[in-house]
Amino acid sequence: MLGPFTRFLRSVELRRELISEPSKHPFTVPAIRNLDTLEFHPQVTFFIGENGSGKSTLLEAIAVAAGFNAEGGTKNFTFSTRTEEHPLRSALRLVRGINKPATGFFLRAESFFNVATEIDRLGDGILNSYGGKSLHEQSHGEAFMALVNHRFGEHGLYLLDEPEAALSPQRQLALLVAIDRLARQEDCQFIIASHSPIVLAYPHAQLFSFSSDAITPVRYEETEHFMLTRDFLMNRERYLARLLEDPPPEPARPTRRKKR
Ligand SMILES: Nc1ncnc2c1ncn2[C@@H]1O[C@H](COP(=O)(O)OP(=O)(O)OP(=O)(O)O)[C@@H](O)[C@H]1O
Ligand SMILES: [Mg+2]
Repeated sequence: MLGPFTRFLRSVELRRELISEPSKHPFTVPAIRNLDTLEFHPQVTFFIGENGSGKSTLLEAIAVAAGFNAEGGTKNFTFSTRTEEHPLRSALRLVRGINKPATGFFLRAESFFNVATEIDRLGDGILNSYGGKSLHEQSHGEAFMALVNHRFGEHGLYLLDEPEAALSPQRQLALLVAIDRLARQEDCQFIIASHSPIVLAYPHAQLFSFSSDAITPVRYEETEHFMLTRDFLMNRERYLARLLEDPPPEPARPTRRKKR
């Protein structure tokens, strides 16, 4: 056991002098453009924010800087279905801890299918470390939990983009338990982009909110994910009545009476 303050990634910093084309994507995304330094939590760091606020962009650049395949998987995965430049990765400085992770995984929500194909291609030896059953022959959620339960191990660095996408509420709770075991007993570090009020409730974590001008630390109870979900569930009928209110009926046209 390395102790609770082990972290493989300590912080990430945007070096503005290394940005070659500041007027192009991804530097047009405000949270990215204004990034300074982000200190990672030793166990779990969450990225939250509106759709399009830059979470996946930053997570992918951190993953590539940390040595993962841009399309997801372990560091041994070298498949690629598209070639892409990483202008953000080139301008990021990743500050690492003293210890190197023994293992790791980058989960990209969109490319889990390609990761499953690559695992099949690598053959039985690799497949066994994922539970022995092709991920293609399992449902999305089953395959994801097989990955977590069989492949995620101690001293690992795990970068996950919307892990809840595949999971029922019950399995999201199972994911919380797995994250807790890995983070607190097996010295793992996670960086997770999520919209799930269940996943984000994990308490031994730092949340960062991507807004329209910056990335700032927030408390769980202050997040829209928590407040809006709670209010919606407690006042469901009122919300639905307001959201789905039928438009007022059109005024009836005067009908002309036929002359007899
Ligand atoms: N290849 C690209 N070229 C130009 N713009 C892009 C490209 N990829 C993403 N974007 C834009 O960059 C912004 C940030 O996208 P990103 O995928 O990082 O958002 P996100 O915070 O992960 O959103 P979500 O919650 O929907 O997953 C979006 O406005 C998106 O349209
Ligand atoms: Mg995203």
